[in-house]
Amino acid sequence: AENQLLANVNMTITAGPTLEALDPVRYISNHSSGKMGFSLAEMAQKMGANVTLISGPVNLKTPKDVQRIDISSALQMHQESLNSLNQCDIFIACAAVADYRPANIETQKMKKQQGVDDLTIQLVKNPDIIADVASTENAPFCVGFAAETEHVERYALDKLKRKKLKLIAANDVAKSGQGFNSEKNALTVFSETERFAITLADKKLVASQLLTIIAQQYSQSR
Ligand code: C5P
Repeated sequence: AENQLLANVNMTITAGPTLEALDPVRYISNHSSGKMGFSLAEMAQKMGANVTLISGPVNLKTPKDVQRIDISSALQMHQESLNSLNQCDIFIACAAVADYRPANIETQKMKKQQGVDDLTIQLVKNPDIIADVASTENAPFCVGFAAETEHVERYALDKLKRKKLKLIAANDVAKSGQGFNSEKNALTVFSETERFAITLADKKLVASQLLTIIAQQYSQSR
């Protein structure tokens, strides 16, 4: 059996990609299997948490006794995340949110135009979901992820401060066999003053190690 370090803790987890429609048949998105977020949801539930999982489109089974809310766009994920805050002690942002969305969603399929070889799509910035969550009154304990290809520590600590996070879990996506669309992951977890290494392992094992760190830091913060 798992430890019960998260007994009765209300937790919201975002997972998967967001999908930003261009027209009824096309979208902008990014690579994300959702596996890390779903592993966190499964293991947090086993450690006693009440888990709400806000997920973009993924091909994964809902973990047992987890409340799953399916969304498509970043704006929908933003709304559902804020809605979850009336009952949320810990918020973990694992989703690969699209930074920008098309400024307009065409109501009809965009047609290929004769003689038009260059097409420009106007994009607008999406809200930063975890930064907005962390800036609310009585904000939950916020944990973010950072997928970096270089300067992992500097960029992760930058994000920790800028987004007002308590912890940030950084993965080096330049290394093969870990990170998105992989079964395995390795993380370096940073607080403002500490760092913790989680070595390369199956995402479920990585999830339970990360949740143990989160549970300890969360209880110290209260
Ligand atoms: O800034 P960057 O996208 O690298 O930050 C990653 C962290 O911020 C992740 O925890 C991700 O889920 C979260 N994020 C978010 N809303 C966005 C962009 C990122 O919650 N619009």
